[in-house]
Amino acid sequence: MSLLPYSLARPFLFGLDPETAHELTIQSLARLQGTPLKWAYCNSLVEDPVELAGLAFRNRVGLAAGLDKNGRCIDGLGAMGFGFVEVGTVTPRAQPGNPKPRMFRLPQANALINRLGFNNDGLEAFIANGKRSTFRQKGGILGLNIGKNAATPIANATSDYLVCLEGVYPHADYVTVNISSPNTSNLRSLQGDEALGGLLGAIAQRREGLARQHRRHVPIFVKIAPDLDQAQVAVIAAALKRNAMDGVVATNTTISREAVKGLPHSEEAGGLSGAPLLEASNRVIAELRSALGRRFPIIGVGGIMSAEDAVSKIRAGADAVQIYTGLIYRGPQLVTDAAQALRALAREPRAQKA
Ligand SMILES: Cc1cc2nc3c(=O)[nH]c(=O)nc-3n(C[C@H](O)[C@H](O)[C@H](O)COP(=O)(O)O)c2cc1C
Repeated sequence: MSLLPYSLARPFLFGLDPETAHELTIQSLARLQGTPLKWAYCNSLVEDPVELAGLAFRNRVGLAAGLDKNGRCIDGLGAMGFGFVEVGTVTPRAQPGNPKPRMFRLPQANALINRLGFNNDGLEAFIANGKRSTFRQKGGILGLNIGKNAATPIANATSDYLVCLEGVYPHADYVTVNISSPNTSNLRSLQGDEALGGLLGAIAQRREGLARQHRRHVPIFVKIAPDLDQAQVAVIAAALKRNAMDGVVATNTTISREAVKGLPHSEEAGGLSGAPLLEASNRVIAELRSALGRRFPIIGVGGIMSAEDAVSKIRAGADAVQIYTGLIYRGPQLVTDAAQALRALAREPRAQKA
């Protein structure tokens, strides 16, 4: 339990514009991490060891990508009790993202809409921040999430991913290839059969060289959207296996507004996250599990606002989960609650998957 209950911080943060609140939180964490003041937000770690893609996770609850795009607070976030932390999305070159405002709260729905557009400081700064962190040395699993610059034509996307892969490879426990943000023009078209085959084939080939060079096989996960039908999920599942990918992260935010119709901000363009995403994301996880078989690692993300929601992801077929919007609405206690619930589930006889 942290010293500073989130119930005290939340009204203050929710009084600010969402992106200002976010920036303030990141800055404070970056300043406090590694100092004695970190006890203000530290949580004890729930030990629930699990092996996935050859990696030893200390528990099944991770931080989803996008909260710490530049990897500035890996240690501060890790200290909240996450078994794994994924930072990024990073692009080869720094870019400002879309014009502000570009992040909106939908409190009645426990949801957010964002159209940030991969605002980040670029690969070099990202790697430097990653190198400075000590989370991995303390047993945490660090995922580095890679993407493409907005200015790079989609036809040249592969070269951006390869540049990022080379840069992050020595510093990552796993790499996530993000092809599912709705806020970079045409990015999601990379999920189609032909484009995906081309991209993943090139990544797999480059990884072979990198594995030889660094004498280490770094698992590669692919992050997909929730706005896919069963046939599209099956096509992606086949491509993941064909190209020897090590896991899948499901899902990113949704472009659907079905679940938030009529609410203030619901018509803002961008990706919707939080509670309204749970069902769609769990459906994709279940479809992935049936297409991929029992052993293929699936990280479930989307709409976890409670320990029960985390359990629902494991029951849908995920091996581990990630959280973003739930952390904004519920605070770090959600990490502990979810990790404890998943540990209890793992200990149930004949537990877990549906
Ligand atoms: C403000 C914001 C920014 C995000 N940025 C990224 C990103 O850069 N890369 C990425 O892979 N996912 C990004 N995501 C998606 C989250 O990682 C996650 O997949 C999604 O929000 C669903 O989980 P949640 O309902 O727990 O938030 C972002 C989400 C939010 C809310």
